[in-house]
Amino acid sequence: MRGFGSDNHSGVHPDILKALSDANVGHAPSYGTDELTEKCQELFKTHFGKSADAFFVFNGTAANVLSLKTMMKSFESCFVTDMSHMNQDECAAPEFFAGKLIAVKSINGKLTIPELEKHYIRLGDQHYTQPRVISLTQPTEVGTLYSLEEIKTLTTWAKSKNLLVHMDGARFVNAVYKLSCSMSQMTTDLGVDVLSFGGTKNGLMFGEAVVVLNPILGKDFKYIRKQAAQLPSKTRFIAAQFLAFFNNDLYKKIAQHSCDMAQYFNEKLSGKVKINYPVQSNSLFAEIPQPLVKKLKQQYFFYVWDEKTFECRLMTSWDTQKEDIDGFTNFLVSLM
Ligand SMILES: Cc1ncc(COP(=O)(O)O)c(C=O)c1O
Repeated sequence: MRGFGSDNHSGVHPDILKALSDANVGHAPSYGTDELTEKCQELFKTHFGKSADAFFVFNGTAANVLSLKTMMKSFESCFVTDMSHMNQDECAAPEFFAGKLIAVKSINGKLTIPELEKHYIRLGDQHYTQPRVISLTQPTEVGTLYSLEEIKTLTTWAKSKNLLVHMDGARFVNAVYKLSCSMSQMTTDLGVDVLSFGGTKNGLMFGEAVVVLNPILGKDFKYIRKQAAQLPSKTRFIAAQFLAFFNNDLYKKIAQHSCDMAQYFNEKLSGKVKINYPVQSNSLFAEIPQPLVKKLKQQYFFYVWDEKTFECRLMTSWDTQKEDIDGFTNFLVSLM
């Protein structure tokens, strides 16, 4: 059944699948010492600057957790939004491996300084975890975007408080496409210290990168990754996928398609159901009456995000077709 459940539900982009197959020739050294991995690491430097160090891991949760582990001690804390993936959907892995998460009220999915200030308390108090990191998700869990100015404001506030900045970029390239900026303009240039760079949700089979932008932080990462059982042995297959992703700006084409489909969906649904957030990436949050949800779900997969309001998440992907959206919308209208 096709649907709008998640960008994780789509398959592997054909160019990336081909890259996997092309890499499947002969032997290559393992654990990151192969030629493709070295080439890929250079490519990350061209996008993020000379000091950037990219480390591959298997999934997004590991990217986040190991990013935090490299930035904070177990008695320190990281400010995240109440709705962040780290806070809601990582089974306390960040707290198990790294340190305390402090959930901050989100506004349109985002952190704001007035809400952060409320939690920046009890410095030096031995009974309380000490603030060390802020983590912002770009694009956010509800498909909104921080503008470059908003990121700059947050990083400036963080630096003024001696805090480090993490960015959960599980869908990072969607933000790059929508804000028409370079990767470094959204991160390195604004003072982001560590980025979780997503691949899987944008067409890879598996594999994410932790991009350490602050050179002071990267030196122990390889040990931390190994301890967490996240060092891939046949690294060339993650590298091959990322090389294809960057080649001829494939990542931009994927992001563009995915985000443009969400815009199209928004246009089709507007005036028919309530859309709860600005549609700025590849997801929409629509309130659909309960009896309709039941019927729609018989033909299309999607998640009910809020069981009280019947807010549903509809997510587009690199392989979403206009026909999928037209079919869903027509069916919805026929049920109204
Ligand atoms: C914003 C965000 N961060 C991190 C993750 C974690 O990714 P994974 O499921 O690969 O661990 C997800 C997955 O949905 C996500 O949406």
